[in-house]
Order: sequence, then structure tokens, then C-alpha cells
Amino acid sequence: MRPIQLTEGVSWVGVIDWNCRNFHGYSQSPLGTTYNAFLVEDEKTVLLDTVEPKFKDQFFCGLKQALKGRQLDYVVVNHLEPDHAGCLEDIVKEFKPEKIICSPMGIKAMRTFFDIEGWPVIETVKSGEELCIGKRHIQFIETRMLHWPDNMITYIPEEKMAFCSDAFGQNIASSERYADEIDRAQLKKLMAEYYANIVLPYSKMVKKIVPSIMQLGIEIETLCPDHGLIFRGEEDVRFALESYLEFAEQKPAKKAVIAYDTMWQSTEKMAIAIADGLMSEGISVKVMNVKANHHSTIMSEVFDSAAVVLGSPTHNNGILPGMANLLTYMKGLRPEYKIGASFGSFGWSGECVNILSKAIGEMHMEEVTEAVKVKNRPTHDTFQDCFDLGVKVGKEIKKKWGFE
Ligand code: FEO
Repeated sequence: MRPIQLTEGVSWVGVIDWNCRNFHGYSQSPLGTTYNAFLVEDEKTVLLDTVEPKFKDQFFCGLKQALKGRQLDYVVVNHLEPDHAGCLEDIVKEFKPEKIICSPMGIKAMRTFFDIEGWPVIETVKSGEELCIGKRHIQFIETRMLHWPDNMITYIPEEKMAFCSDAFGQNIASSERYADEIDRAQLKKLMAEYYANIVLPYSKMVKKIVPSIMQLGIEIETLCPDHGLIFRGEEDVRFALESYLEFAEQKPAKKAVIAYDTMWQSTEKMAIAIADGLMSEGISVKVMNVKANHHSTIMSEVFDSAAVVLGSPTHNNGILPGMANLLTYMKGLRPEYKIGASFGSFGWSGECVNILSKAIGEMHMEEVTEAVKVKNRPTHDTFQDCFDLGVKVGKEIKKKWGFE
């Protein structure tokens, strides 16, 4: 791909994955994604990260154009996940860099991802260390568990540019390279979806790391994530940092998600009656059948919801597999401060709501009302029970978060 010069000494040498719809095998990315990599040219040339291996040919072509016949001297590996380090072995073979730089946790991951026998010198750097590359310096800030143990941010003070790996990313393939070139509300939504499905379990780290970056007093004029658009200018950089602090707080909107699976529409009819109850309390509701909505789409809605209402019929003494899939995914992402509730239909044994209640407890959600369970099909009376469950959850949302 054609490199794009960002400053006199820094070029974007990443690739655009226009048709990526399944990001990392677990999250949908309806707008595609990008794998951003950067070349810094000084007395030494330095590559910051690589790209998804299937784009190696385009990446190498762009990198060679950016190098303009110069040798690639150093490679900084901010993160070992294959969408950023996947071309490292081929970089070593084809470009023969003098040195590879990564964090102390990065070298552990590098040894297990690659056979590094015969590789160039691998230098590990800790937070606060820096590397002189001529007129410029590269400083390193480890950001362990944001979102892998090895992640780090690199900062070039002379450019006031920070390269932040997965943090602040968005899944978007576009001809634009900068965040100020797209609609702000769309940008925030993309950032939130990415956060909800990738960064959410590491919110405690976000709350520690982002303020420490702000307090270090390092001036960032350009913030370059490894996915999506680049934030340029003080206002946009502040927007990115403050958005992450806001996401990490997980303060919900006046909103509930009803996520359910259904066999013969009894549980679905219950879901709709519960939605009615919630709406009667002025709560914004998303009614999401797991067969019609990918688990990552549901999670993006759960992220800013105050309550999660889970429904499934009983099936073979358990719940339907689509709900089990959603619960596995949601538990791993550890959403906080939610109200939970459950419902479902059954034919004879009726374990569904106990299983859903157990999952609600395991996710530390506050179950504020008894589950509603109906045999075979909801009736006029049990529709009322469902409606009442929605009303109860709606009232609790307003009480807990002080909504009118
Ligand atoms: Fe974009 Fe953790 O990889």
C-alpha cells in the first residue's frame, strides 16, 4: 500500500482490511478494520509494529516505498498479537533489521510465537527507558493488560506522537486516516463497540494507565492506535483519552437489554411483554434474539445498559445453546454495575431460570426481582407477570442511577 507521510519523519505504512467482518474470530466488524504500522526516519529507521500476515505483500511494498532504499534498522514491537506482530518473522528474513525492541513481557510472548534462534539482537525496554535514533528519541511506557501483558505505548517527544497499540482503536476500513475526518458520533460509537468487546475486562487498567499518561505531562499532539483512525490535535487527543476514562467508569444510560433465545416463541412473547413493562417506566429497551444478533452486537448494547434481562426456554434440562454462547462471552468481558433479571418458558422440568439466575450471580449483577417462568405458553396472567418484571427492573434502574 502507498505509505502516507504524517510528519517529516513519520509515515503510516499500515494496511486497510476492507472486508474484515469477523475480527479475531469473536467480534463482528461490519465496517472492516485497519492494521496501522508506522515508519520513523531519522539517523536510524524504525518500524513501529507490523500488520496481519495475510497483508504481508502490500505491507512490504509500502514499507519499501517509505524506506526509499534505506536499510530498516530497528523494529519496535508494541504488542505480540498476530495482527500486529504476524509479519515479524518475514521482516527479519527480508529486511534484516539490526535490532528488535519489545517489553519484558513481549520477549516472553515472542519466544513462544516464533523460533527466534538466529534473530537479530532483541532488546527489552521498561517503562521510562528511551532509545536515541538520531535527532529523535523513542520513549517506552508499558501498559500491561491493556489488553495483553506485553502491550506498550511508544512516544516520540520531538514529534509529540504516541503510538498506543490496541488502546483507543476502532474497527473501520476507510480512505480517511484521521479521526477528525469522520462524524464524531460515529467515531465514538466505533470506539465504544471496540472497547465493549476487547478492552472492557481491563477497565481497571484503563483507570490507572490513562490518568498516569495525562499526569506524566507528556504532550501528545498525535495519538496513533493500531486499528482505525489517528487522533490529531490537542482536542482530539483529549477526546480519545477522556472517552476511555468515561468507558472505564461504565456509567450506564437509562437503558436495558433483553437478550433471549426461543424455540416456539413463548420466551420471545415473554421478552416483548417485559419490554412493554420497561418502556412503561420510560426505559430505552433493546430486544435482542441471540439468533438474530451476534454476541458482540449484543455486548455493544449491554455495555451502556443499566440492566440485562436474560431469557431462554428449558431445553434438555438446560438452556438453549445460543444463550449459553452469549453467557460465556458476556462473563469473560466482565461488565460491571448491572441489574440482572431472568425469564423463560418450559415444558416439564423448568431449569432455565435457575441457570440464568446463576449466571447473573456469577457476573455480579444485582438480581432485583424473582424470575418469571411459564409452562409451555404465556397466558393473559403470565403476560402480566412479565410486564410487572419489566416495571420492577425499570423502577430499580431509576432508583439505582437517579434517573427521572
Ligand atoms: Fe489488535 Fe491485541 O491486537
